Amino acid sequence: MISFLSGKNDYSSRAVNLYLLSIFLQVYTWTVLLVATLVSGDLFSKATRTKADDRDLRNSVFDFIIVGGGTAGCILANRLSAVPSWKILLIEAGDDENIDYDIPGVPTKDYRPILWNYRTERTGFSCLSRPGGSCEVRTGKVLGGSSVTNDMKYTRGSKVDYDGWHSAGALGSLDWKFANVIDFFKASEDNGDYDILLNSMYHSRGGEMHVQKFKYADKFIEMFTSAFTEMGLRSLDINTNVAEAVVNHQFAISNNTRLSTNSAFLKPVRHRKNLVVITGATVTKIVTDKQEKTVEGILYEIEKGKEHPAYAKREVILTGGAINNVKLLHMSGIGPKADLIKHNISVILDLPVGLNYQDQVTTGGLSFSLGEVIVSESTIINDFKNWFQSRNGPLASRGINQVSAFIQLYEGVNAPDVELALEGNFVRTDKFMLNNISVHISEEINFPLPYYNLVNIYPILLRPKSKGKVMLHKKNPKYGRPVIQANLLKETEDLVTLVDSIDIALQLLVTKEMKKAEIKLAPIDLFPCDRLRNREQWNCISRHYTKAMSNPIGTCQMGENKTISVVDYELKVHGLEGLRIADASVMPTHVRGGIFAPTMMIAEKASNIILKDWKENKGYYYNTR
Ligand SMILES: *[C@@H]1O[C@H](CO)[C@@H](O)[C@H](O)[C@H]1NC(C)=O
Ligand SMILES: *[C@@H]1O[C@H](CO)[C@@H](O)[C@H](O)[C@H]1NC(C)=O
Ligand SMILES: *[C@@H]1O[C@H](CO)[C@@H](O)[C@H](O)[C@H]1NC(C)=O
Ligand SMILES: *[C@@H]1O[C@H](CO)[C@@H](O)[C@H](O)[C@H]1NC(C)=O
Repeated sequence: MISFLSGKNDYSSRAVNLYLLSIFLQVYTWTVLLVATLVSGDLFSKATRTKADDRDLRNSVFDFIIVGGGTAGCILANRLSAVPSWKILLIEAGDDENIDYDIPGVPTKDYRPILWNYRTERTGFSCLSRPGGSCEVRTGKVLGGSSVTNDMKYTRGSKVDYDGWHSAGALGSLDWKFANVIDFFKASEDNGDYDILLNSMYHSRGGEMHVQKFKYADKFIEMFTSAFTEMGLRSLDINTNVAEAVVNHQFAISNNTRLSTNSAFLKPVRHRKNLVVITGATVTKIVTDKQEKTVEGILYEIEKGKEHPAYAKREVILTGGAINNVKLLHMSGIGPKADLIKHNISVILDLPVGLNYQDQVTTGGLSFSLGEVIVSESTIINDFKNWFQSRNGPLASRGINQVSAFIQLYEGVNAPDVELALEGNFVRTDKFMLNNISVHISEEINFPLPYYNLVNIYPILLRPKSKGKVMLHKKNPKYGRPVIQANLLKETEDLVTLVDSIDIALQLLVTKEMKKAEIKLAPIDLFPCDRLRNREQWNCISRHYTKAMSNPIGTCQMGENKTISVVDYELKVHGLEGLRIADASVMPTHVRGGIFAPTMMIAEKASNIILKDWKENKGYYYNTR
């Protein structure tokens, strides 16, 4: 093993090194490397101003400042910098992407250095047997954001979800109905599967975001697909408003390489002279003119305690996601009055920022063992080399993660309630033989995704009812992690739906396909739920082994009513000129899929609104407000 760790410095051994380091040594660092972050310079720290300082001052004035180079921010940076007379600043807390994150078979959601490493607050009703009684929220802190750390699945949700955002009497909400947002999904899309492209009502080519199915499929993918088919599910494109399906997913990949929004939208335009990208910089405040209620710019820090200003002539656009946006807005005096006063923050706007937090939820504990599967480390090393040289082989896949079943549990709207998502894991046979393995071991990724002898089934609640709240850290609001009161499974209805869906997942075991292959429930130690049976046992498991899907939304929801919403339907913050929010935090509810595709749609739509606003209302792009 040691010989790999001190291998040559080419890409393939670097990835193997990184991987072996994380899997065999289990070295997860909580600190983020600051090295690359210091290059972007120090704008205004000198006490005496020189000619160079005047140049710096000029250099710190922009037309638009985009806060957060994540899934949405990279798209906005591309679209807005397409207007040559506009100067754009994109500012990101994480660092640039690295080729190691591009390997589809390697789950980046386990690389702590590119995660925010947030956790939910302890509750008495969920995440009970997780460390500290709380669930992890794994969102990406890296250029490209969670499009670097997610599972790359391209799922848009259902028509009823978007139509449901419409509220009677609010004209602006009509713009967000499915029929009116479909073109913004298609704007980014470059669909590489001809069978799917045939449906041109939903799909298109020519956008920056290439989506495609993986070509590599192993025997278990076929087995599980057949088993779901036996249960009555048809193999369909989930992005065409179907209620139930077994899905062979499309992923955001190009040439079998992860395609983050950074790779797809930002890298190709980084050369633009009117686009400045600063990484490793945290925005600490939105600067407003309190009397005029206009936004002037931002303050950001590269080194702790050293603030730099940047001025926005037109707009500041927040794309930091449903957790980070809240922290920044509260620190800037925009949030629930009572919360701000507790921190002695002077109130600029009393708005419900941070409320309406929602995350999709699932549970661990449902594992199927596949019997004997032989994986040798030398095969894996060769597969890494193969991927680096030709982008082929098992690592150009996600293993069983490529299959999901979408299930409608209840009558009512014609849409799924649950996604049964599959994830492979490899557990050493001796661990299996001696004892029941813990849920923790069943989930701890030991090898890349394509090598597995265990399949975890995660029933994901697509439209949870439970809502929570994000607040500032109690003692250290500026540098501490925000408090995430996720309230997962707080509503009884959510628990009932989750357990109903487990019943359906268990039906897999009685299919001919699974019986023939002798696939069985894995012996998992379900303490403290081991004595219970049936529904009671699954209720207990769900409350103890809860998992947050890390798809946070809703904290800056759009709407007309200022008591319950933060932005209007044009994504402008109520009561303030020059501030917009354009990411998943504006979603009033989840859609029946992930948040990756919807977030790209929101960014495309936001870009369109902004371009129209500054053109039609003001006549010229180069006018200031
Ligand atoms: C707020 O200010 C008051 C009075 O200046 C002070 O006593 C209190 O400790 C401050 N609270 C916080 C959270 O900073
Ligand atoms: C895919 O990537 C491999 C390895 O970098 C390269 O050799 C090949 O030309 C690429 N194929 C396409 C179609 O871009
Ligand atoms: C393993 O777990 C199963 C089900 O929870 C239980 O019946 C069995 O006794 C356990 N075996 C061991 C060796 O702990
Ligand atoms: C806004 O929402 C609040 C809380 O739901 C409600 O009490 C109030 O009547 C609403 N205001 C308007 C103008 O609809």
